[in-house]
Amino acid sequence: MALWGGRFKEAASAQFKKFNDSLPVDYRMAVQDIVGSMAWAEALSQVGVLSQQELQDLHKALNELKDSVEQDPKQILTSDAEDIHSWVEGKLIEATGDLGKKLHTGRSRNDQVATDLKLWCKETGGELLLALVNLQQAMTELAEREKDTVLPGYTHLQRAQPVTFGHWCLAYVEMFNRDIGRLKDALYRADTSPLGSGALAGTAYPIDRENLAQNLGFRCATLNSLDAVSDRDHVIELLSTASISMMHMSRFAEDLIFYNSGEAGFVEMSDLVSSGSSLMPQKKNPDACELIRGKAGRVVGSLSGMLVTMKALPLAYNKDMQEDKEGLFDALDTWLEVMQMAVLVADGLKVNRSRTLAAAQQGYSNATELADYLVGKDIPFREAHHIVGEAVLAAIDAGHALEDFTLAQLQEFSDKIENDVYQYLSIESCLDKREALGGTSRVQVQKALENVQGENGTL
Ligand code: ARG
Repeated sequence: MALWGGRFKEAASAQFKKFNDSLPVDYRMAVQDIVGSMAWAEALSQVGVLSQQELQDLHKALNELKDSVEQDPKQILTSDAEDIHSWVEGKLIEATGDLGKKLHTGRSRNDQVATDLKLWCKETGGELLLALVNLQQAMTELAEREKDTVLPGYTHLQRAQPVTFGHWCLAYVEMFNRDIGRLKDALYRADTSPLGSGALAGTAYPIDRENLAQNLGFRCATLNSLDAVSDRDHVIELLSTASISMMHMSRFAEDLIFYNSGEAGFVEMSDLVSSGSSLMPQKKNPDACELIRGKAGRVVGSLSGMLVTMKALPLAYNKDMQEDKEGLFDALDTWLEVMQMAVLVADGLKVNRSRTLAAAQQGYSNATELADYLVGKDIPFREAHHIVGEAVLAAIDAGHALEDFTLAQLQEFSDKIENDVYQYLSIESCLDKREALGGTSRVQVQKALENVQGENGTL
């Protein structure tokens, strides 16, 4: 039975009912709705609407319902209730008769749904945080394993300067660190209780809303009833956090897809996360990474969808807001699954160290070193840059690396060049010179690793 039949002469059309019902989506908030209802019952008992006995009876029935829902959440889907709030209330009335009909005193589905969703976000936020930390851990372990592996670093997808594979891993650790910070921030702001805001104007019962908020595990109660029932910033902030993090993971996937290509051959993905071709027997495709990259689009889509849904809604509640959950649930499910998949990818990654080293040695990625060498010999950098540009051009013509020139040949570009130049041109020297904070030198990578390991220890 609908919660609102009295004012109507006719039943809604089946087509409208299907259109309007949100149970197939919001059934996932069953536990939160029950927990919220228990706290509301207690608040009602404190203001004398329910007796102690009634409160106990309601709590008993709600607890039983919670156990049953935890065991079999899909049972809800067999009901034709309008939404999860109607379902819980219906079940309660089934179990307690007229007593169950008292629970909705002073409450609206508007403050109820806002509360349920925030409780759900808080709980899911914990899982997401853990997944981010796990992913960070996996990337840190990979960084530790590959801290000495030389990798060509790119700008414009052109080989630029050598870095270490560990340094590449730690770049993603930094991004995931910011994602963790963003998620914590979003969860902090979401941590306020709308319950007791009524439909829009506040509740007519003298409920201690602060106390109610504490009972539900919220940091505090919301301060304006109009805002409380119509605020979906938490949904948007979580979607935005998810989108940014998915963007990071998409770049991670994209880097690996390129490293895994036949042309680069820097890494091989584990069989556990690859698939083959139905036609071409030789193929081993990086599907896990491609799907990570692809799913990022869907998550960003949910963010834009929600921003557009909210942007012209008048205060306070409007049914448009019911559309918030489908995108949010899908985006957060996707984000979680992607993080777990990225861990599998990172754990099973094989790095072909000789290929990465060979690639770093080609492509003149030590040209900056030669310029810096000339600067050390008192040639202004801009001039040094030009001299080395000419040397690179000549080396390309000759079809070899800069260090393959004889000393006499190098001296044709600048008579300041001496025999010590060769040690400057080595990959080792390129790496080790990047010693300032945040650089790719082994010392810095080691420090960065120790920092992250220390931080993770305190998470
Ligand atoms: N199913 C609704 C939602 O998810 C619950 C709130 C309905 N409130 C109302 N006044 N119709 O937003």
